[in-house]
Amino acid sequence: MAKVRKAVIPAAGLGTRVLPATKSMPKEMLPIVDKPAIQYIVEEAVAAGIEDILIITNRGKGVIEDHFDHSIELEQRLEESGKTDMLEEVLKLSNMANIQFIRQKETKGLGHAIACAKAFVGNEPFAVLYGDDVIIGDDPVCGQLCRIYEEFGKSVVGIKEVTSEQILRYCSLAVSPVRDNVYDVSDMIEKPSPDKVMSLYSILGRCVLTPDIFDILAETKPGAGGEIQLTDAMCIQAKNGNMMGVDFIGKRYDMGNKLGILQANCEVALIRADMREDFAAYLKELVKTL
Ligand code: UTP
Repeated sequence: MAKVRKAVIPAAGLGTRVLPATKSMPKEMLPIVDKPAIQYIVEEAVAAGIEDILIITNRGKGVIEDHFDHSIELEQRLEESGKTDMLEEVLKLSNMANIQFIRQKETKGLGHAIACAKAFVGNEPFAVLYGDDVIIGDDPVCGQLCRIYEEFGKSVVGIKEVTSEQILRYCSLAVSPVRDNVYDVSDMIEKPSPDKVMSLYSILGRCVLTPDIFDILAETKPGAGGEIQLTDAMCIQAKNGNMMGVDFIGKRYDMGNKLGILQANCEVALIRADMREDFAAYLKELVKTL
């Protein structure tokens, strides 16, 4: 089966759940300790062997492009002041992968954003990493999904069980087990009413799609919330027998949600060798006051 070489990172959402922070700052640029969320996501794709990345942005998100570009003045200053570690870090960032950008001119939904990637993707399978979902783990989740695509040749979604309250705001999947953490997905529904919930399994942040998704998206009408929903297009693939699910190994943080941002910062600081000791000592003291 063809290797997955390309990835698309949709990052053109309005981020209304974290206003006012996101009025002029894209949520994808919100930091987790000292790195913006989208850098973790690009690093995950690169670690999974992805060669070409398309980031979908919109008006006001030029700061994402700047982040992955060279900053000659900064690089010179770091070199002159002998800050070689930081210089290496900054250079690594601008040489990380072949990153391109495209603008979604109107915020018409995730399905519409993915449709903007048609020319970049061509006729290949491609990974989608949602720009506000950071997933931390030793084995990059994007790679876990690519391996299942390469074995079965079908679209693959990253799935996790969520609570019965959350499922009403997410999408619900009809799944049947194939082996270990791999499932067959035969149906899905976005933001189901309680009587339409098929399971507590939902899609969280990652998928690999076969390129026929573009023809399906071209026919997809606005769905839940008046947006062109990627789930509605993926549902057609599922019903055609072209969809697998992987209950991935990794901890996901929703950077489009206030609690998710706080959890990401706390937990990532606690696994960072340079932060762990001081931060844990601070937290232990703080907990005593609660
Ligand atoms: P979300 O629905 O979580 O993002 O989309 P949002 O629209 O910014 O959320 P609110 O306003 O807080 O409710 C998931 C991913 O899809 C991207 C978002 O940037 C996010 O990474 N997206 C969403 C687009 O690129 N374009 C869109 O039209 C909608």
